[in-house]
Amino acid sequence: MARKLSLYEVEDGMILAEDVVDEVTGNVLMPKDSVLDFASKNRLENYHVHSVLIVDTNDEEKDSILMNAVLTESYNAIEEELVGIYEDLKSGKEIYFSEDDNKFEILSREAAEENDILSQLYLLKNKDDYTYNHGMGVGVLAAKLGGWLNLSANDIKKLSIAGTFHDIGKVKIDDSIVFKRGPLTDEEYEEIKKHPQHSYDIVKEYSDYDQDILDAIHHHHERLDGSGYPHGLKGDEISMFARIIGVCDVYHAIISNRVYKPKDSPFKAARILRESSFQHLDPYVVRVFLDNISRFYVGNKVLLSDGRKGTIVYIDQVDRDAPVVKVGEEFIDFKVRRDIKILEITI
Ligand SMILES: [Fe+2]
Repeated sequence: MARKLSLYEVEDGMILAEDVVDEVTGNVLMPKDSVLDFASKNRLENYHVHSVLIVDTNDEEKDSILMNAVLTESYNAIEEELVGIYEDLKSGKEIYFSEDDNKFEILSREAAEENDILSQLYLLKNKDDYTYNHGMGVGVLAAKLGGWLNLSANDIKKLSIAGTFHDIGKVKIDDSIVFKRGPLTDEEYEEIKKHPQHSYDIVKEYSDYDQDILDAIHHHHERLDGSGYPHGLKGDEISMFARIIGVCDVYHAIISNRVYKPKDSPFKAARILRESSFQHLDPYVVRVFLDNISRFYVGNKVLLSDGRKGTIVYIDQVDRDAPVVKVGEEFIDFKVRRDIKILEITI
């Protein structure tokens, strides 16, 4: 539904239902789906536009469209910065981190509220490149997890920054190692283990980000029992920020396609996280993460290993890695069915 309004009747946040075209030149002055505000209305007025066709939505729909527009815009701005820094580092150019962290503030705020963020994560994937997708994915997941842990807005923003740039140091390691298809030799693994230090050095040198962010980046591969790297820190030596990035990093790596392995389902990721929470990852952080993330999967479509597609209808809060899936008229309980697997969640 759409309705025609004079420019004076248009309120901030209303959405254009059709392109606004300059009657003289035929140029599109403002495309369909643009969100109108004071500045854009002014611009239209300067072009002597007197009325526009507005999307007529109910408030709930409008909130959702607006939220997605704002989220998409800040997501794209962050991705642009991440890709720019990565490519400039790669080609040896001088780099700089933007001092304006407003986009992280917006993304964190929306990520903390946007219930459909996981679907958004899939939809917003612009670059089909693990390096960027992983930074973006961990940034969003960390903000989400910060919200579930009831952290302050400022801490959530720090988490989304740390998540975005946590692996930027991989740029300093030879591509033949980072993107190797087979298993790594001992020497190659030693090289890979340097990346948190490289990430820390880069972000410390070129940004004004504070110690919380730097520690989270530096220590995202440290593990509670001292088995992590680069320093083998233990227990309390690893900050809460680093533990949160660590959990999101492991989860996102499992559910992503890598050069050496196809992606696994979030249910396998849940099982691995749960098993890791005994010695490696913070058990409380893992529990809050899994308690909350599993809720989002109910209603999603899944692809099964026998080629059939189904819908997740129930996830047991105790056994989160074994949902019930409806395929046609059949209900498959993965607690008892072992002959088929869930390959992936589809949208
Ligand atoms: Fe890493």
